[in-house]
Amino acid sequence: MLKACIAGATGYTGLELIRLLLQHPDIEIAHITADANKGKRMSEVCPSMEGIFDRELVELTPDLARDCDVMFLALPHTAAMDKVPAFLEAGCKVVDLSADFRLRDPNVFEEWYKTPHVSPQWIEEAVYGLPELHREKIKIARLVANPGCYPTGAILALAPLMQCGWVDLDSLIADCKSGVSGAGRKLNASTQFCEANEGVSAYGLTTHRHTPEIEQELGALAGRPLRVVFAPHLMPMTRGILSTVYANLSEEVTPDQVQERYREFYRDEPFVRVLPAGKFADTRQVVRSNFCHIGIAHDSRTKRLIVTSAIDNLLKGASSQAVQNCNLMFDFPETRGLESAPVFP
Ligand SMILES: NC(=O)c1ccc[n+]([C@@H]2O[C@H](COP(=O)([O-])OP(=O)(O)OC[C@H]3O[C@@H](n4cnc5c(N)ncnc54)[C@H](OP(=O)(O)O)[C@@H]3O)[C@@H](O)[C@H]2O)c1
Repeated sequence: MLKACIAGATGYTGLELIRLLLQHPDIEIAHITADANKGKRMSEVCPSMEGIFDRELVELTPDLARDCDVMFLALPHTAAMDKVPAFLEAGCKVVDLSADFRLRDPNVFEEWYKTPHVSPQWIEEAVYGLPELHREKIKIARLVANPGCYPTGAILALAPLMQCGWVDLDSLIADCKSGVSGAGRKLNASTQFCEANEGVSAYGLTTHRHTPEIEQELGALAGRPLRVVFAPHLMPMTRGILSTVYANLSEEVTPDQVQERYREFYRDEPFVRVLPAGKFADTRQVVRSNFCHIGIAHDSRTKRLIVTSAIDNLLKGASSQAVQNCNLMFDFPETRGLESAPVFP
């Protein structure tokens, strides 16, 4: 059995990791860590774990890596980038759910995260953990930078268009709506019930930190730098991200050709479903699963493609994608422990 440490186990993504690994036949949880909650038992902080998994929460220290094969880091950004080298040097593999190793250029990291990177020598080795784009590199990686939730949805919606020459690559817009759990469990005024319920608000326009991540991955696919207008919104729902992306058509292309392009691009993907023509993505059809649904509209009147994608931000946008990456890193079947259908209603 593979031994795993879940760092940040009391947070929303950490809790999902516990739930997923408890059902995984090849991975056992060796340690769980917390910060303010260290020293408590899991059920004190998360009553849902009462009688199921009630281990003590310990402090995250480098020596935890000694008896683990893999560290899942579900910590706020910058909280673990100084510790990652010690985990790797101890022979442990790392799946980091934070943003610390996602951006290839440490200057871009500093620009958007307002702090210098403290382990820049490891950025080059890190692999961006979107299996649909980087599967072969993930298989041999020691350090996987698990993608952000919005980038997962937006990149999967746009990726098939980056190399076909059908769209104007300078016209990309990603209009994305997230459930409130995207902000994590920590207290935050804008995610309190009275502030988030019964309303929809845009936030972080032109400044959201997921912007350079989306541009980095789509630019790499396109073979040239590009910019994306990214508009995040907070929705009064607990989970899910709906991304609606727009691109101007620069070539004559039929709806059938576009539909076929997406089907071909994702033909062998176990977790991406391209919906039949005329059907659009809906978060209710994917939540509590690792699936991503994609639905395409071809607007010949305005010469635009409108593509919708839906994911669960805590799963395909975070923890189940982390397990998918871990499966690849340790040569398990990629879908192991992740096959369950979405929960509907
Ligand atoms: N939420 C999402 O939808 C989502 C999606 C994709 C990626 N992510 C990323 O995943 C990471 C975790 O997100 P989350 O939503 O699960 O956050 P969260 O609910 O706020 O949980 C954070 C966890 O980290 C621990 N922690 C906080 N500060 C720490 C420190 N300085 N050192 C060690 N541990 C510390 C907390 O422990 P205590 O309970 O003791 O405070 C808690 O267990 C973040 O980087 C986030 O950006 C989140």
